[in-house]
Amino acid sequence: NKIPATLIPGDGIGPEIMDAVRLVLDALGAPFAWDVQQGGMAGIAAGGDPLPQATLDSIRRNGLALKGPLTTPVGGGYRSVNVRLREEFQLFANLRPAHTLVPGGRFENIDLVLVRENLEGLYVAFEHYIPFGDDPKAVGFSTGVNTRAGSERIVRYAFEHAVKLGRRKVTLVHKANVLKALTGVFLEAGRTVAVEYQGRIECDERIVDACAMQLVLNPWQFDVIVTTNLFGDILSDLIAGLVGGLGAAPGANIGENAAIFEAVHGSAPDIAGKGIANPTALLLAAGLMLDHAGLTDHARGLRKAIDAVLNQDKVRTGDLGGTASTTDYARAIVQRVTSG
Ligand code: NAI
Ligand code: MG
Repeated sequence: NKIPATLIPGDGIGPEIMDAVRLVLDALGAPFAWDVQQGGMAGIAAGGDPLPQATLDSIRRNGLALKGPLTTPVGGGYRSVNVRLREEFQLFANLRPAHTLVPGGRFENIDLVLVRENLEGLYVAFEHYIPFGDDPKAVGFSTGVNTRAGSERIVRYAFEHAVKLGRRKVTLVHKANVLKALTGVFLEAGRTVAVEYQGRIECDERIVDACAMQLVLNPWQFDVIVTTNLFGDILSDLIAGLVGGLGAAPGANIGENAAIFEAVHGSAPDIAGKGIANPTALLLAAGLMLDHAGLTDHARGLRKAIDAVLNQDKVRTGDLGGTASTTDYARAIVQRVTSG
């Protein structure tokens, strides 16, 4: 009764950090049966496609995937693999938690979750130039689309996530004072959904620009934030900055029938093959995957072990000022996991 899940090692440091994650998940007794598939440069090498059919089939079958970073080839006309996955599986929610891992940064005790709508808004790509006179690119033109159905779906996801994780508040972030239709539909849908959770989960609202300022002045006032695509893209990197950058930031792309978990960072070609990459972000992504699969005890055990290794054992990789190799660090976590 193992849970079948697709595993894509990815490019660059991908295979190294994925090995570390597998070591830790095995020690945790996480009941996944891995179906290893290729993507990125490895997919191109195997059959000319960074997102091979076999990989898509596997994700469709399993509905659950852990993905290493993929190098998007420059030139050659390849579309971003991440965008293709999002569209293919209608991964409408992008989950980006930000949690302080090591003290001593600019902010302490940050614990936020940002839920970004992933399929609508200003990223639907109805984009073109309009010529004027002899300038073929005189005007850049883009159309944004938010639907009531899509807005209700993302806000409901945020509230359900808040309930599941025992959180207290959801903040709707919008710009309905200016983009009255485009983000007004999101705000109205959000208010409708919020009513269903009255008495259980608090709901408040922020205009996106004010929210950006408040996130820097007093991030502790926020808990779960839900917003449309473009605002979510920007604010999710902002909150990663509150906890020291993308190095330890996990992310999840979630749809009705499939969910894909990954580190937010890329394939780090500059340090690939050296055995020094930090697997923490991918480990935390695996933690989100455990949560998603209902294995919350495993997820909690994993996060506890990471915290103990970083802050008590003080075993850290180079990017966090330590000297541990990827494998040293993974072994230290295994030690913590198996000693309870
Ligand atoms: P990057 O995140 O790979 O690297 C930026 C810097 O952070 C580098 O100095 C790198 O060594 C360091 N770094 C990243 N992850 C690290 C880790 N786990 N441990 C220690 N140091 C780490 O970003 P970059 O260089 O812009 O992109 C490289 C490739 O990755 C590109 O082909 C890009 O398209 C791809 N990429 C893929 C993503 C994905 O599949 N989700 C996301 C972002 C980029
Ligand atoms: Mg982004």
